[in-house]
Amino acid sequence: MSTVLKISHLEVDFEINGVITNTPLRGINLEIKAGKTLGIVGETGCGKTLTATAIMGLLPSSAIQRGEIEFGNHGDITKADMADIRGSEITMIFQNPQSAFNPIFSIGAQLTMVAQRRGISDIPATLTARLESVGLRDPKRVLESYPHELSGGMLQRAMIAMALLSSPTLLIADEPTTALDATIGDHVLTLIAALQKREGFAMLFISHDVTAVAKTSDEIAVIYAGRVVETGPTSEVMKSPQHPYTQGLLGAIPSAEKARGTLVAIPGNVPSVLTNIKGCAFADRCSLQMDKCAQEPPTVQIGKQSVACWAVNS
Ligand SMILES: Nc1ncnc2c1ncn2[C@@H]1O[C@H](COP(=O)(O)OP(=O)(O)OP(=O)(O)O)[C@@H](O)[C@H]1O
Ligand SMILES: [Mg+2]
Repeated sequence: MSTVLKISHLEVDFEINGVITNTPLRGINLEIKAGKTLGIVGETGCGKTLTATAIMGLLPSSAIQRGEIEFGNHGDITKADMADIRGSEITMIFQNPQSAFNPIFSIGAQLTMVAQRRGISDIPATLTARLESVGLRDPKRVLESYPHELSGGMLQRAMIAMALLSSPTLLIADEPTTALDATIGDHVLTLIAALQKREGFAMLFISHDVTAVAKTSDEIAVIYAGRVVETGPTSEVMKSPQHPYTQGLLGAIPSAEKARGTLVAIPGNVPSVLTNIKGCAFADRCSLQMDKCAQEPPTVQIGKQSVACWAVNS
């Protein structure tokens, strides 16, 4: 199966007032296969959105970026003119659909602008069909509405419609259900999965919620303090998580069984961007910590999983 996106050794620092911060992305390696979903999961501040922003070529000018992002037959897009790729071959949906729309234009006017830029011919018919495809049953009303006139769930669907107008090769979904209530969030996940099956785009699905990632993704990448600590097929990672951080994230999922017992939270916090990380970044929160953890663990293969942890490597 062909690879759509391959990220190698991606590192990002920021320069703030002439001072270089410690590296919020410390060597990300990821691969997304054509038509498949890679889910990135990790706590707040781990570098999930920064990874997406780097792919889109939207890092701020204060960012210093190293490493490669290969996309389709474009080669390394860290050096490409992203204006041709962003919004057409790679599109993105966000946690907050309000941020995807301009409040002073109707949804119809904004979708029309995108369709014109993409050279779509029969725009009214295309927009109607597109809105119906995302489960918006009254496309005429939606097209005439302003963003504030739609519910959060409807606006989320309109944003998905906009992101898919150009038939992208890769859709990046950054916390697409976090702002929605659980039932509507579930409907949106089901919708995205159905659209992907029909239209065949690859997806990078980002969430701090391991249950949402498990539901949507073929492969999972667990990210901690700017590094991928475990990757593998979703079924394997969920069945036998190898990294203590992945085990902690899974232990922190609320479920009917666990509701009767105690929900175990991972002690401590993700290191701040000001921490100078030496060795394994998770060590001070880890019950398996040992002397070796003062050095950065190499990534080793365990079955179909890749794991960066000394405890599984000794
Ligand atoms: N423009 C910036 N300048 C300096 N530091 C930044 C900037 N953007 C992000 N960071 C830092 O990079 C780290 C990773 O941020 P990122 O937004 O990728 O986290 P995240 O995993 O998406 O978290 P969340 O789940 O809260 O969305 C954080 O420590 C953040 O403070
Ligand atoms: Mg984020």
